[in-house]
Amino acid sequence: MAGAATLEAVDNTPKAEVPIQSFTVTLIIRRFDPEKDAEPYWQDFDVELYATDRILDALHKIKWETDGSLTFRRSCAHGICGSDAMRINGRNRLACKTLIKDLDITKPIYVEAIKGLPLEKDLIVDMEPFFASYREIQPFLIADSKPKDGKERIQSVAQRERFDDTTKCILCAACTSSCPVFWTDGQYFGPAAIVNAHRFIFDSRDEAAKVRLDILNDKEGVWRCRTTFNCTEACPRGIEVTKAIAEVKAAVLRGKPDIPKK
Ligand code: SF4
Ligand code: FES
Repeated sequence: MAGAATLEAVDNTPKAEVPIQSFTVTLIIRRFDPEKDAEPYWQDFDVELYATDRILDALHKIKWETDGSLTFRRSCAHGICGSDAMRINGRNRLACKTLIKDLDITKPIYVEAIKGLPLEKDLIVDMEPFFASYREIQPFLIADSKPKDGKERIQSVAQRERFDDTTKCILCAACTSSCPVFWTDGQYFGPAAIVNAHRFIFDSRDEAAKVRLDILNDKEGVWRCRTTFNCTEACPRGIEVTKAIAEVKAAVLRGKPDIPKK
């Protein structure tokens, strides 16, 4: 009959398992132990990996099976905590979000600590200067006035949308440590602090935009940005970092942020 579906016999015979192919990948890792080494040095490791493994899996494999002294930070392993930003083949990325299949494994993969922050050991840097800048921009909602009905600070969809992009930051430092201005001038607030200032400056409920704009109108503030876009390229959350910095610059010039009235 025209249009009628035909039923085909289903073959339920178990198929022979096809082994998933693995590869030997060479990782060249920049090592440094302050108790033993005068200078950092590069060390090669050959690791058996699958295409779906990530650089974090490779580091775990080395640590668990070859060299327990290899030191790196990680926590969530799923791109949320921001603790495993590192330079992979010269680009800042999260080790837990970098798949082996997306890299050219015919060549060695170079892994080193992010730049611009003091190196502590192997892939770990001292994050304190990064968090000091973050604290300086006062990354919390400041609203001292009473809400209109005494209960809630109502915000429209458009007002919430205004700062949505910068709420996604996970403080991984991939942006700040990819910024050439930050490499040469460790006093610069850096992209991540400005992104987190943006998140509150453009929040219609916040009442301290002027304070934050004054902080960022400093010689080490937004005007140090040279719009190189390294930060935007490095951000694992896809935040338009350079755009956020440009919006803060415009707000400094206007003396206030450009927020929808309703
Ligand atoms: S803006 Fe992006 S790259 Fe910078 S700290 Fe936040 S998540 Fe990381
Ligand atoms: S381990 Fe948490 S972001 Fe990678």
